[in-house]
Amino acid sequence: MPLARSLSVTSLSGLEDWEEDFDLEDAVLFEIAWEVANKVGGIYTVIQTKARLTCEEWGDNYFLVGPYMESSVRTQVELIEPCNPALRRTIDKMNASGCKVYFGRWLIEGSPYVVLIDVGFTAWSLDRWKSELWENFSIGVPWFDREANDAVLFGFLTAWLLGEFAAQCDSPPHIVAHFHEWLAGLGLVLCRQRQLPVATIFTTHATLLGRYLCAGNVDFYNNLAEIYHRYCLERAAARCAHVFTTVSKITAIEAEHLLKRKPDVVTPNGLNVKKFSAMHEFQNLHAQSKARIQEFIRGHFYGNLDFNLDKSVFFFIAGRYEFSNKGADLFLEALARLNYLLRVNHSEVTVIAFFIMPARTNNFNVETLKGQAVRKQLWDTAQTVKERFGKKLYESLLIGQLPDVSKMLDKEDFTIIKRAIFATQRQCQPPICTHNMLEDSSDPILTCIRRIGLFNSSSDRVKVIFHPEFLSSTSPLLPMDYEEFVRGCHLGVFPSYYEPWGYTPAECTVMGIPSVSTNLSGFGCFMEEHIADPSAYGIYILDRRYRGVDESCNQLTSFLFQFCQQSRRQRIIQRNRTERLSDLLDWRYLGRYYISARHMALAKAFPDTYCYELQDPTSTQGFRYPRPASVPPSPAHSLHSSPHHSEAEDDDEEERYDEDLEAEKDRLNIPITLPVQIVYSSAK
Ligand code: UDP
Ligand code: G6P
Ligand code: GLC
Repeated sequence: MPLARSLSVTSLSGLEDWEEDFDLEDAVLFEIAWEVANKVGGIYTVIQTKARLTCEEWGDNYFLVGPYMESSVRTQVELIEPCNPALRRTIDKMNASGCKVYFGRWLIEGSPYVVLIDVGFTAWSLDRWKSELWENFSIGVPWFDREANDAVLFGFLTAWLLGEFAAQCDSPPHIVAHFHEWLAGLGLVLCRQRQLPVATIFTTHATLLGRYLCAGNVDFYNNLAEIYHRYCLERAAARCAHVFTTVSKITAIEAEHLLKRKPDVVTPNGLNVKKFSAMHEFQNLHAQSKARIQEFIRGHFYGNLDFNLDKSVFFFIAGRYEFSNKGADLFLEALARLNYLLRVNHSEVTVIAFFIMPARTNNFNVETLKGQAVRKQLWDTAQTVKERFGKKLYESLLIGQLPDVSKMLDKEDFTIIKRAIFATQRQCQPPICTHNMLEDSSDPILTCIRRIGLFNSSSDRVKVIFHPEFLSSTSPLLPMDYEEFVRGCHLGVFPSYYEPWGYTPAECTVMGIPSVSTNLSGFGCFMEEHIADPSAYGIYILDRRYRGVDESCNQLTSFLFQFCQQSRRQRIIQRNRTERLSDLLDWRYLGRYYISARHMALAKAFPDTYCYELQDPTSTQGFRYPRPASVPPSPAHSLHSSPHHSEAEDDDEEERYDEDLEAEKDRLNIPITLPVQIVYSSAK
């Protein structure tokens, strides 16, 4: 007797009410990706942040499968005995046949089980497996492409794992295997070729051709030898999967043309949204982290600290170092134009622009480390003089006398102070780059900076700091992790040309930090679709689709210039609005697209047990955030009329505007329609 249940969502706050009726009791889910417990870029973020929700749904029947990387395992994984008897037998059998497969718990939210395969240990099989790949699929992988070699090993080993697991189960299992990106795709192709009883899903987080073609000619020709066979692996996985998904509508269009398959479901990327009990906690965190970045700036610009730090705003771009795909080229050009605009308008604002993109280096450079040492020394000097001063004051108080102010600092104190000031003299400009670059002369960011002449000179209103390494709280230079750093900044700038999703602006949003993205990024398109006036919420979406580079650059410059004109109060209001969009990006909401994909795959692979009806598979539409009701963010509407207006007053006004926000929040509790209308029927 078929049982039908329609799913309904009535309001944002009612997200938890989403129901489904799909019996998963005997089903097992394997999710396979090269970035399981192995951080490279955004795919790691997908897997890591989604784990909690997937564990809640699948419990002990959920297994992540990734490569064994010793350094990550040491810090992130607790190795244990497999809990599932069939999986234990599978792993034992593989290990007895010359593989090295580990089992453990990944120490992240949800503590998912992980199966980690040491691909290097089975490298002796590479030639044999490559021949098999050639004979069965006509895909030839050249010896020099290390990444593709890893993909071959990983593919054969995951297919082996799934096949063995299916064989070891007492009754025929319902296995779902969800493969991410081309590096994991071969496992899927082999599952289908070997006709394993596995429902397969392939999610691509980009298309190889899209990424290479967008990167520009130079990159294209340099990568030519690596493209075709990788593309074959990717295309085979997309074509063989029961269900094919990608992360955004824009990449869905690309996949349809380049991989010749329209995705069955668009699975947008979510995040684990942290809810603080105090509504303003994220604003306090901004202030705390900003203070730490300011300390770093004090050191970095020692001897040239001729700008007002309290009137400085921090912009940043971060991510894998793909210079033009990530829009670092456009950002630099816009910064040069912004520098000019701020100068001719005699603006008091200074912009510090950070570039956090890992490149090849051999450690921090001396000048940068010296900056922090000098700052520390000045701090220590100030503490010494303060103590001496305090002692004198104390002594005069003990004898009941008012201190003689002229004697509070003596000759020795002045000597100490002068020596400290002399130490801050420097012969050069504050450095652009924090590290010694291995390819300094050909590095694209440095080359561009040399061309546009942003050298951190005193007259520049825009200063640039290039940190060619991901951030870490253990760094001796800027001891902050990425999240803390983002919180302390004012604006994330991600003017990507090629960006299937783009986690970096999404992460800014849930932390209440405004950002610039583009209408060529999955995130930008998603936000454009769901928000009536994105820039009012601090989501600036640059048009890189219908405008030329110069025009886009002007648009970016004007976003940045407008941002610089905002008062502190306006920034606070805008951050409140940005943070309110978090619900939209929460896995609690977006996770359901993954659920749909899995159900669809089960129904396609096991039609006797499961079936489904899908109304609009690629729709992520359904509701829109209205235009905010309170003060417009445009500086033109709320410039301070009084010349005596102070920043302190700005802060006082924070509370008043929060009331506006509360009012707006009520208005937001509007009914929303279903993002996907799915009716599942489970006919058993
Ligand atoms: N990231 C990081 N440390 C940094 C800078 C970036 O961990 O110092 C992370 C960031 O949190 C994000 C990921 O790198 O989750 C980049 O993902 P995105 O989707 O933006 O781009 P991808 O690299 O996948 O193309
Ligand atoms: C947060 C804090 C305020 C602080 C403000 C600075 O909102 O709660 O106390 O004044 O940040 O904002 P700004 O945009 O100038 O960094
Ligand atoms: C890819 C894309 C990025 C996306 C990430 C996660 O690496 O470049 O835009 O956010 O995957 O889906």
